[in-house]
Amino acid sequence: MVSSHENSHAPWLEKLDFHHQVEYDIIQPMISWLCDGQNLHILDAGCGTGTTTLLFANQGCMLVGVDQDETALQNANKLLEQTSHVGQVVFQRGNVNQLPFEDDTFDMVWTSYVLHHIADKLHVVGELKRVLKPGGRLAIREGGLPLQMLPHDIGLGEPGLQDRLRVAQNTWFTAMTRHILPDEKPYPFGWSQLLLDSKFTDVQARTFVTDFLPPFNKAQQQFILHYFQRTLDRDDGKYGPLLNDADKKTLEQLTNENSETFILKRRDLHVRYGLSVYLGVKPA
Ligand SMILES: C[S@@+](CC[C@H](N)C(=O)[O-])C[C@H]1O[C@@H](n2cnc3c(N)ncnc32)[C@H](O)[C@@H]1O
Repeated sequence: MVSSHENSHAPWLEKLDFHHQVEYDIIQPMISWLCDGQNLHILDAGCGTGTTTLLFANQGCMLVGVDQDETALQNANKLLEQTSHVGQVVFQRGNVNQLPFEDDTFDMVWTSYVLHHIADKLHVVGELKRVLKPGGRLAIREGGLPLQMLPHDIGLGEPGLQDRLRVAQNTWFTAMTRHILPDEKPYPFGWSQLLLDSKFTDVQARTFVTDFLPPFNKAQQQFILHYFQRTLDRDDGKYGPLLNDADKKTLEQLTNENSETFILKRRDLHVRYGLSVYLGVKPA
C-alpha cells in the first residue's frame, strides 16, 4: 500500500494498477500544486483511463476528460463509478486535434503523456490554447528524471548496467515514436519552447520526485520487476537489438525469482525518479 493513500479516504486509489499506485506519490503533490486550493474547470486532453482526471476531482475540480480510445473511456467510466465524483467528471470521446468545445471554456487544460503521440504538436497546443479562458493555464506533463535504482556495480556482468538500460529505453522510444508517427512534423525543441512558440506567457517547469527503499510494498515490487522485464520484452528485434547478450543474461538472472540474484532479494536498491510538468498562461 502506498503510504500517502492512507490519508486520502478514497478506497478506489487502492485498486489502481501498480504503475499508478507508485506514481501517486509524485502526481498527487503535482496536482495539489497546480490546483492550489481552487475549484477549477479543467479539460484533461487525452485522459486515457482517467486516473489523473480523478485525482484532480479529489481536489474539488470539475472536469471533462477527452480521449479518442473508446476502451480507455469505458475503463475511465468504470473507475469513476467507484468514486464519489460522479456528476463532477464527464468522460467523452474526442480528438485533441479538433476539440468539441467553444473557445475560452476552461480554467486549465492538463495533458499528460499525450503530446509525444501527436504528429503536429504546434497545431494541437494551439487547439488546447483555443479552449482555455484568457488567463487560463496549459499544463503539459512530459518527461522528467530517468528512473534509477541500481548501484554502479551489481556484481553481475559489466558495471554500469543502469546507464545501458537507459540507452536501451531511449533507443526503443525513438524507434517506437517513428513507427507510430510516420507523418510527424518535426519539432526538435523542448516542451517549454513549445509553450513559448504557442505564445503562452509565464512559462515555467517543475519536477516532482519520489524515493523509495526496501522493504517494498506489493505495487513497488511489481513496478521494479516490470522495469527489467519490459526491457527484455521490448528487445524482440522489432526495433533492432537494444541490449548486448551479456546484459540480456544479467536481466534474465535479475528477473528469475528462483535465482539467488533475483532483483527483489537485493537490500541495496534505491528507487528514485521524477516527473516534470510545463506550465504556460494564455494571455488575456
Ligand atoms: C500514454 S496515454 C496517457 C493517458 C493519460 N493522460 C495518463 O497520463 O495516464 C496517451 C493517451 O492519449 C490518447 N490520444 C492520443 N492521440 C489522441 C488524439 N489525437 N485525440 C485524443 N486522444 C488521443 C490515447 O488514446 C491515450 O489514451
